[in-house]
Amino acid sequence: MTAAHPAKARVVVTRALFPSHIQRLAEHFEVKDNQADRALDREALARLLEHAEGAIITGGDRIDADSLSLASHLRVIASVSVGYNHIDVPACHARGIVVTNTPDVLTETTADFGFALMMAAARRICEGERWMREGHWQRWELDQMAGADIHHTTLGILGMGRIGQGIARRARGFDMKVIYHNRRAQAPEIERELNAAWVSFDDLFRRSDHLVVVLPYTPEAHHLIGARELALMKTTATLTNIARGGIIDEPALVAALASGQLAAAGLDVYEGEPKVLPELLALKSVALTPHIASASRPTRDAMANLAIDNVIAVLSGKPALTPLEPD
Ligand code: DGY
Repeated sequence: MTAAHPAKARVVVTRALFPSHIQRLAEHFEVKDNQADRALDREALARLLEHAEGAIITGGDRIDADSLSLASHLRVIASVSVGYNHIDVPACHARGIVVTNTPDVLTETTADFGFALMMAAARRICEGERWMREGHWQRWELDQMAGADIHHTTLGILGMGRIGQGIARRARGFDMKVIYHNRRAQAPEIERELNAAWVSFDDLFRRSDHLVVVLPYTPEAHHLIGARELALMKTTATLTNIARGGIIDEPALVAALASGQLAAAGLDVYEGEPKVLPELLALKSVALTPHIASASRPTRDAMANLAIDNVIAVLSGKPALTPLEPD
């Protein structure tokens, strides 16, 4: 006996979404959700994808030839993230699977956060908060938690894409000078609008008072920032990373902070996340957050809805809204 063909396409969701997202998906598809947010190992992920035509995944789900090995019906993978270093896009394309991400909807929220984390590192906000909670505060002192200024300093941006540009716009309100490095300089009209100047990679490290990393994580960007780059930085400078942890050689960063080569760091992303190097956890001069740069409620809602829009489009025979193109 052959099984009846399901009336609706099957869509799987690897992580918990807001209830409204599941409700929306259920209007269109037969949905296998994971509202219990169970951890899926590689085998469980491959099995989940086995009967699905559409999948909504997140940055923690590694999609490669192995996880796709059983996925013979899959037509679209929509990641609730702008970054897509966790997806082997060519392997998906080779199987005719459309892959989408969530650009634009998180740009401003993530830029807000990058700026906030840079300020937290420079002004020792997390350190001060921890110290107070530990009951250390006895009296006012002239040099108590004295950090670095933000206003009228030089902001360096590594990776002047949409989020980098958002951070540059915020710097205007603080009268900062903005320098940046990208493989290619931005168009002169964008540089004028942002009041930002392209500098060489090394100059970015030498000249920045506050350096923010917003670079896509590609194989070339792996450990792009190591002992050599950190040694170029001012001893009063801060380094903030809201891109991907693997861009920075973390032991080299620990050494630079511990030796006073670098004043402070703000980290939202980690190479082995959710595991964090114990040496980083032990350092007072690092403001640490758990990969939440895009985590405002409206933005996370918009990211999930964009992923759903992409799945609806592809499974109804229309082009995806935000497909990842073959290189
Ligand atoms: C993104 O959108 O890439 C964020 O880092 C969340 O994964």
